Amino acid sequence: MPINILGIETSCDETAIAVVTDGCRLRSNIIASQVDLHSQYGGVVPEVASRQHVRDLVPVLKQAVSDSGLKMKDLDVVSVTYGPGLAGSLITGLNAAKAISFSLGLPLIGVNHLEGHIYASWLGDLDPSLDPGFPLACLIASGGHTDLLLMEGHGDYRLLGRTKDDAAGEAFDKAARILGLGFPGGPEIQRVSQGSASVERLPRAWMGDTLDFSFSGVKTALLHLAQEKGIYPPENNTLGPEETADTIRNLAGAFQESVVDVMSVKLLKMADKYGAKGLILAGGVAANARLREEITRLSPLPVIIPAPVLCTDNGAMIAACAYHQFKRGEQFGMELDIEPGLPLG
Ligand code: KG4
Ligand code: ZN
Repeated sequence: MPINILGIETSCDETAIAVVTDGCRLRSNIIASQVDLHSQYGGVVPEVASRQHVRDLVPVLKQAVSDSGLKMKDLDVVSVTYGPGLAGSLITGLNAAKAISFSLGLPLIGVNHLEGHIYASWLGDLDPSLDPGFPLACLIASGGHTDLLLMEGHGDYRLLGRTKDDAAGEAFDKAARILGLGFPGGPEIQRVSQGSASVERLPRAWMGDTLDFSFSGVKTALLHLAQEKGIYPPENNTLGPEETADTIRNLAGAFQESVVDVMSVKLLKMADKYGAKGLILAGGVAANARLREEITRLSPLPVIIPAPVLCTDNGAMIAACAYHQFKRGEQFGMELDIEPGLPLG
């Protein structure tokens, strides 16, 4: 019998609900983004985010179930992100999941958001003959995390490297702010750096021989270069519009290259050192076209990267992950609570 799982994700600023069958078949995937609400502040405001989740949860749920072609009574499992993330946001999704689970008598599965990002790789009609097998070298690069994990089996992770300061997505967001671009910064940096001549070069923090990252230095180097070129602070900018646009394009391109270079080299180094059979790229930053291209170009191993819309936060990845937890017999009761600092590995 197929297993239909409802996946609820509200860890940050996306109210996202999906229905997935057997951990891989995407039936519906609804994402209510709060970007417009937060962009006026240049970042996510937790209190505003949780209030908006409360408004959006019921309409998003109705849409996700109706788009799936199923009825509520056809659902077999309810899954939800319980950490890591913003406390006030997580609690809205968890309470909704508990209400559905209790009223329909369905099992409840709590999912680690980071593990969910990895399981976005299982969505879609993967050709089983192309499955590289374990271990897999995984890079999770999001707004809050930049982790290198060795996945040795379903639900089995070893954390081998992480950022010592800013997460990659956070660095993209801060760099975009320096360059006067919109929020979230990652897609904006990618957009403006297209066709950049890459005449500038920003430093790379290699962190010695470790698998750790640091992105605060490149952000400061970008700030200094923006000051030197005269585009920062914007009120002191004396360049014409074309020269300003050119400078922004080149600095954005240089920043993107620096971050992409370090992440690609470290992921490949880890894969080699630990005998990985394949690579997984996950998290919002995995939507970055240059990062996808560079890792695919460098890797001698199969590389699995979810479609960009499944890299950023969504409910389908939560349902995909929950399928494997459910199969393993994991159980969560009504006492399940949020864990804003929940680790992985
Ligand atoms: O995984 P995600 O949707 O949310 C968190 O769990 O944090 O990641 C959001 C982050 C943001 O910092 C955003 O700027 C970044 O992912 N991001 C990108 C791109 N799309 C989203 N960074 C670089 N290039 C992109 N195309
Ligand atoms: Zn995320």
